[in-house]
Amino acid sequence: MGRGYKVEERMIRLLTMVTATGTALLTLTVSSPAGDWHIGSSLVCSECHVIHYGPEGDPEPGGPFTYLLSYSTTNGLCLSCHDGRDPAAPDVLSSVTMYQHSGDEYSAAGYFSGTETGSDSAHNLGVMDLVPLRAPPTNMALSCASCHQVHGSPNHRNLISDPDGSGSGTSLTPGVDVFQDTPPAVPPTPEGSITAYRQSNVGYRSNLSAWCAECHNLLSSNEPGVPPAHFRRHPSEVSQDVSGGHTDPSHWLAGEGWGFGSATGDEVEGVPRVRFQEPAAVDYASARAVESTNQVFCASCHLAHGGRYRSAAIWPYKEAVADMYSPCQQCHNQ
Ligand code: HEC
Ligand code: HEC
Ligand code: HEC
Ligand code: HEC
Ligand code: HEC
Ligand code: HEC
Repeated sequence: MGRGYKVEERMIRLLTMVTATGTALLTLTVSSPAGDWHIGSSLVCSECHVIHYGPEGDPEPGGPFTYLLSYSTTNGLCLSCHDGRDPAAPDVLSSVTMYQHSGDEYSAAGYFSGTETGSDSAHNLGVMDLVPLRAPPTNMALSCASCHQVHGSPNHRNLISDPDGSGSGTSLTPGVDVFQDTPPAVPPTPEGSITAYRQSNVGYRSNLSAWCAECHNLLSSNEPGVPPAHFRRHPSEVSQDVSGGHTDPSHWLAGEGWGFGSATGDEVEGVPRVRFQEPAAVDYASARAVESTNQVFCASCHLAHGGRYRSAAIWPYKEAVADMYSPCQQCHNQ
């Protein structure tokens, strides 16, 4: 297996470092850029496959199932741990209590509403749907394996480079495009997973928007508008300080007043600072530093899995509540 070889190579490098100096080993381990779980030596076959399905002791009745899986569907399989049942697996199915009191409201990707039910606050799982903002029109039924490589990938969170199968592909390389501050614990622990997968543990530099636009391909370039307007749809990967811009970088830098607040969905106008990309980032700290060069991207406004509000938005847009325009005002201050 190619991936196994890569892990082995890393371990050899670690061992070499240990003979040189113990401190060097520590730095290397902390910033290890490979996938964190379900990859290489952490790809535990028996978590997902049953070798000889029998009448006893197997997770879902009615088998054996395709590819010797322990569940009849991929979503059922993944959610058998990721719905809160395994306390060390990030919970990605509503309702989620895992991240409460962690300092963050959500994990980085948020959560789904259910399987085989349509929801307007999350990506639907197992429902045949038209992909919005895509040409030509395409129908798709999403599963975890539509976006994640089940046997691990070199990308952040084992994401598939080419989720729409169009052949081009976008990489999201840990330590290059995306940074995390604290990696998960090995072996996994509930506390380690809460710290590693919560929203504020991730910083972004590039490519997440391009990755989303693999499927939502009408957003793959920011179509230009007629001056003085710049764009025909809300852009992504554009900095606050674009020349002649319609944003207010000094308001963004100050971080107070219109748009800024301590909680989303309370009765007071203002939400915590939205997520952004920093194109010059080289590590977690520089990816999270507030600058006038910070860029708006899909995750400024959306959660990748979904969440509490319509259109998987991070706030109640189009609802007549105090926070309805807060994220817009953080950047635009109109
Ligand atoms: C037996 C339980 C179990 C099953 C089944 C399972 N997972 Fe996981 N998964 C975990 C645990 C535990 C972690 C966190 C481990 C850690 O990072 O310390 C995890 C982590 C992950 C991560 C984050 C990995 C990273 O490198 O950042 C992804 C993505 C993921 N799982 C997707 C899936 C998908 C997709 C499926 C179904 C094909 C699945 N999981 C099935 C237990 C499970
Ligand atoms: C996190 C869950 C998970 C783990 C762990 C896992 N698999 Fe799989 N495996 C799947 C799923 C889901 C499929 C079905 C194919 C798909 O959806 O991509 C699959 C399909 C397969 C297939 C048939 C399709 C193919 O890609 O060739 C083989 C062979 C396979 N797995 C071997 C393994 C081996 C060997 C291990 C351990 C080293 C392993 N798997 C660990 C989830 C998993
Ligand atoms: C594998 C293809 C695929 C990828 C990758 C993908 N999407 Fe989607 N998306 C879909 C499909 C299919 C739908 C329509 C079904 C639904 O609403 O869940 C959809 C719907 C949506 C919706 C509307 C949800 C609603 O309930 O109204 C939003 C918002 C969205 N996607 C944002 C994103 C963002 C942001 C990313 C990147 C983090 C992304 N998508 C990545 C396939 C994809
Ligand atoms: C539309 C694409 C898409 C689908 C479908 C999807 N994921 Fe994800 N997932 C992502 C993205 C993108 C991230 C990384 C988000 C980030 O770090 O900003 C992610 C992150 C994760 C994580 C890390 C925790 C977190 O919230 O960041 C886990 C675990 C995970 N996904 C599991 C699953 C499981 C299990 C399923 C199926 C029930 C699934 N995903 C379906 C796109 C998807
Ligand atoms: C994280 C920052 C950020 C957020 C949040 C944000 N925007 Fe923007 N917006 C930008 C940037 C950067 C541009 C590009 C600058 C420009 O066009 O001059 C832009 C451009 C625009 C434009 C002008 C497009 C043009 O043709 O010039 C409009 C209108 C707009 N945004 C409205 C909104 C609305 C409404 C919201 C809330 C739903 C919102 N924005 C949320 C950063 C943001
Ligand atoms: C400035 C905030 C903002 C940014 C940036 C943004 N979106 Fe959206 N998006 C929204 C809002 C708000 C809606 C709901 C629009 C409405 O209902 O009128 C939405 C709706 C959607 C929909 C559903 C459209 C439909 O017809 O149902 C998809 C898909 C989507 N966005 C994908 C993306 C992707 C992919 C990116 C990054 C390339 C992105 N968005 C960037 C705010 C944003």
